[in-house]
Amino acid sequence: MMKPVIVVHGGAGVIRKEKESGYLSGVKRAALRGYDILKQGGNAVTAVEEAVVVFENDPHFNAGYGSVLNEDGEVEMDAIIMDGRDLTSGAVSAVKCIANPIKLARLVMEKTDHILLTCKGASLFAKAQGIPEVPGEQLITEFSRERWKKNLKSASNPVACQFGLGTVGAVAVDTQGNVASATSTGGIINKMAGRVGDTACIGCGGYADNNIGAISTTGHGESIMKVTLARLILHYMEKGMSTEEAADAGLNYMKTRVDGYGGVIFVNNSGEWTAKFSTEQMSWAAVKDGQLQCGISTGENKTEPVDTSL
Ligand code: GLY
Repeated sequence: MMKPVIVVHGGAGVIRKEKESGYLSGVKRAALRGYDILKQGGNAVTAVEEAVVVFENDPHFNAGYGSVLNEDGEVEMDAIIMDGRDLTSGAVSAVKCIANPIKLARLVMEKTDHILLTCKGASLFAKAQGIPEVPGEQLITEFSRERWKKNLKSASNPVACQFGLGTVGAVAVDTQGNVASATSTGGIINKMAGRVGDTACIGCGGYADNNIGAISTTGHGESIMKVTLARLILHYMEKGMSTEEAADAGLNYMKTRVDGYGGVIFVNNSGEWTAKFSTEQMSWAAVKDGQLQCGISTGENKTEPVDTSL
């Protein structure tokens, strides 16, 4: 039996000092939620889905409640989930008025013959599956609205729009040695209505393959899509790099080739994991062997024991 491992991220970008503790407690809660499921023999797909649900319900993070707003002042979200056993995957893009897009992505994976549903079709599918519609306003925090207004004023300054990247994600390996990944986002601030980013696209926002491992990405979506970052990093692993080397090589290629910045979490099928970013910060947490590790800035990792009696 494999020792289970979960790694989560709360997004790459710049985290304000006063928000650091909220981000750290969020990533810890998400990682522990997923780890509890794995410890009880639950599968990797359920562990990553439930970890991401914790993020989607936490207003600190740019996913579900707390998502950034598009140029019309509305929340439009993307999400993807992937099962490393057979490469099945489900995704939704530009969905509105649902609390947990990752749950809808899982339903796309399990109940349809498709990989990606978008906009109106995704909403109709959600309704048919009994997912409740929530008023769009219910997903918007005061902070998101204020930031949206500020960015409208500074739309001519692209740097202002770089802040607040912050997709969430989780990767896991379960006791059976199966891997899975899940990623969810509100996208980038003041994006055009209908813009779909990397998160909904297989091989970009995430990928999972039992033969190699599972990965979830965060950062500037258009850059991630140009280099298909998730699959690129798995390709480097296939070429013989370690998890750390592959993650660094992928992020470095994105930086040098398209001037793009972001972060990744990655676990291989032996349970080796890494969390790497080329942005200033990325909140992340991992649980393995009864130890929780977490961090926000490079070189500032914390380690805490975890109750493994479950
Ligand atoms: N990585 C999130 C986005 O660009 O949509």
